[in-house]
Amino acid sequence: MHASAQQAGPPVAGAPEPAALHVVDVPLGERSYSVHIGAGARSVLPGIIAALGARRAVLVSARPDDWNPETGVETLVLPARDGEPDKTLAAVGGLCSRFARFGLTRDDVVVSVGGGTTTDTVGLAASLFHRGVPVIHVPTTLLAQVDASIGGKTAVNLPEGKNLVGAYWQPKAVLCDTDYLGTLPRREWTNGYGEIARCMFIGTGDLRGLPVSEQIAASVARKAEIVVADERDAGLRHLLNYGHTLGHALERATDYALRHGEGVAIGTVFAGRLAGALGRIDDERVAEHLEVVEHYGLPTGLPESLDIAEAITLMRRDKKATRGLSFVLDGPAGAELVGDVEESLVATTLAGMPRQSHDLA
Ligand SMILES: NC(=O)c1ccc[n+]([C@@H]2O[C@H](COP(=O)([O-])OP(=O)(O)OC[C@H]3O[C@@H](n4cnc5c(N)ncnc54)[C@H](O)[C@@H]3O)[C@@H](O)[C@H]2O)c1
Ligand SMILES: [Zn+2]
Repeated sequence: MHASAQQAGPPVAGAPEPAALHVVDVPLGERSYSVHIGAGARSVLPGIIAALGARRAVLVSARPDDWNPETGVETLVLPARDGEPDKTLAAVGGLCSRFARFGLTRDDVVVSVGGGTTTDTVGLAASLFHRGVPVIHVPTTLLAQVDASIGGKTAVNLPEGKNLVGAYWQPKAVLCDTDYLGTLPRREWTNGYGEIARCMFIGTGDLRGLPVSEQIAASVARKAEIVVADERDAGLRHLLNYGHTLGHALERATDYALRHGEGVAIGTVFAGRLAGALGRIDDERVAEHLEVVEHYGLPTGLPESLDIAEAITLMRRDKKATRGLSFVLDGPAGAELVGDVEESLVATTLAGMPRQSHDLA
């Protein structure tokens, strides 16, 4: 499955026809769907809903009303709020109640419009209501466009931890409309670029300098390939965790003051250094990790206050750390999961990283 530029779907009455959109197919048998990427991508929604044969829709949106896409069918609009505090089972329950009062059936469709927190929450509600109703995601942050809305994982948080309750539920389509990004604060751009930066080491090649819609399309195409090979997270999908083992630890060590993409960026620089220390890649490739992360204006050094022993403890507790301290690392055959990495080597590699005071405003 590759990203192909093609003219967008059927023209929509009253809406300008978008210029060429990138379309990435996610071939998962009867759960296959397409991701439409580019300026104006939300205007293909009525055509997609019509093709599904859905007669009614619930549109759950965290964006202002005038940014909501047309659906072409009778629609209940439910306002939502992005953010981790609302990514809860209570929010899922509230949505399902509204679906029930509207009389939503499995022949109808749910549409999510918002950041990754909203696509995750609405996706989980859609997976549960009537044991599953169709959902279409319209992600509005860069991070949600390149990552959260793609791949069919949905989840909400518990007081005990993030993303602890979820389901696999593939959407019927994803519309990554880059017009939404026009209002995105700087910090949310860097958050998304953290995920894009690490794509270079998991198979997209160098994306620097490409228009943002092409960078999104390439990141989505690679994630789609990986998801198709490993829909249920039994193997290859761990590649997506490039830079994430340290990244998650840094997010937690800073009490989430460091955003996910920022943690991943620093984790990517670290992954390069660790792969170098293990003799898996040469100095030039190690340096490339730093250069790519710097290119996107992302942080590259450890937080000044970080305690290395604490970071290692947090990495040991990472839910994906099933084989001692394990990391996805670059190597002669590309990235792969490397288990049982010596703790002392991890500690000296961390100690060799520069420290940086992060602008967390
Ligand atoms: N399901 C998955 O596979 C997957 C993958 C990666 C991340 N996630 C989840 O995604 C979430 C993070 O997503 P996020 O970074 O989008 O966070 P988010 O949903 O909290 O949005 C971040 C901020 O951007 C604002 N925002 C959203 N769209 C905007 C726009 N167009 N203009 C201006 N501001 C806008 C929001 O109001 C919010 O303040 C996390 O909960 C994470 O667990 C899920
Ligand atoms: Zn991530």
